[in-house]
Amino acid sequence: MNNIPFEEIIKKFGTPIYVYHGEKIERQYEKLSNAFSIMNSKIHYAMKANENIEILKIIKNLGGGIDAVSANEVDRALNIGFKPDEIVFTPSCASVEEIVYVMDKKVNIHIGASEYFPLLAKKLKGKKVGLRINPGVNIGGNQKIATSHHASKFGIPVIFLEKVKDFQKEYGFVVNSLHIHAGSNISNVDDLKNSIDNLFKYTKEFENLEYLDIGSGLKIKYKKEDTETDVDSYAAHIKRKMQEYNQNLKIKIEPGKYLVGNAGYLATTVNIIKQGYKRKFAGLNSGFNHLIRPMYYNAYHEIINISNPKGKLQKYDVVGQLCEEDTFAYNRLLNELRIGDIVVIKSAGAYSASMVMEYNLRKKPKEILVFKNAVRQI
Ligand SMILES: Cc1ncc(COP(=O)(O)O)c(C=O)c1O
Repeated sequence: MNNIPFEEIIKKFGTPIYVYHGEKIERQYEKLSNAFSIMNSKIHYAMKANENIEILKIIKNLGGGIDAVSANEVDRALNIGFKPDEIVFTPSCASVEEIVYVMDKKVNIHIGASEYFPLLAKKLKGKKVGLRINPGVNIGGNQKIATSHHASKFGIPVIFLEKVKDFQKEYGFVVNSLHIHAGSNISNVDDLKNSIDNLFKYTKEFENLEYLDIGSGLKIKYKKEDTETDVDSYAAHIKRKMQEYNQNLKIKIEPGKYLVGNAGYLATTVNIIKQGYKRKFAGLNSGFNHLIRPMYYNAYHEIINISNPKGKLQKYDVVGQLCEEDTFAYNRLLNELRIGDIVVIKSAGAYSASMVMEYNLRKKPKEILVFKNAVRQI
């Protein structure tokens, strides 16, 4: 990484550790920003993916904004120096008090339930408010991370938009934006385009719109054969829709994993190789306390043995050291693993360190940033 051998980083900081590659984040940002430069747009990094302050600073230096989901995330972004207008707040089932707190910070807010309006009545007069809508269509991706279908808790079902219009008149607020987020890691760009088509359909309903927030859903490569979302084709589609609907709205996009997913690595050590009745286990000094995506979402992460890259290929169940089922991969073909070998789990930049816990009183991994020829704990 930046000509620094990975082994050197491990020698210095030990394992388990998260290692991030700053330039990779920059490259992803530039790719997306170039694609969306054909329209008035802004990238708002979904900081839930990785809220480390140094990662946020990289985004800030690139000119990005923030997508936050909690008052604490909003406060962190403000403390780093993001301006209120560079932040969008799209909470899910947050308390009325939390929403009021963020409204007072003058951050852009996307309300995800029509039931909030009467509860916020006293705060709404003259305010601009965005709506997170749920068009009720099943769009791609893993069901656990699909968010705009009939059974999802997210967004205002479009059947209630008339109600919102009545609230608008009653409480004197202005709907200035519509937001949609169809889910994460959507493999087919046509599904993403379909979600955009749904969003544009509702632009006719509100006359004071200033921007559309298209959420994310951008896919990254977890497996070698995966393809990343073609962001050029996606942006071109949005531009065409804008022309078709004769609109001139700013577009905000909220990528998380597209920017940081493949810039992160979880480095672990093999504690034990153990033969079970039927399978061989490689027990790492980690578990779902450090990386929960394989267990929670059935997510695939590439795993490599960097200590023995030419070792004979063998099949392992790669597990952690928790007193739980904490399998990173079943029956995975890997170069022979030995006690003490360094095993790196790839694509661990998003929803990885940000979901860490101290279950079994195991410590959180350190986080290391390799950026501009420096290697430092962040
Ligand atoms: C509202 C919203 N915006 C953006 C994101 C970021 O999604 P991704 O990390 O897939 O880019 C999420 C992820 O859950 C989300 O819920």
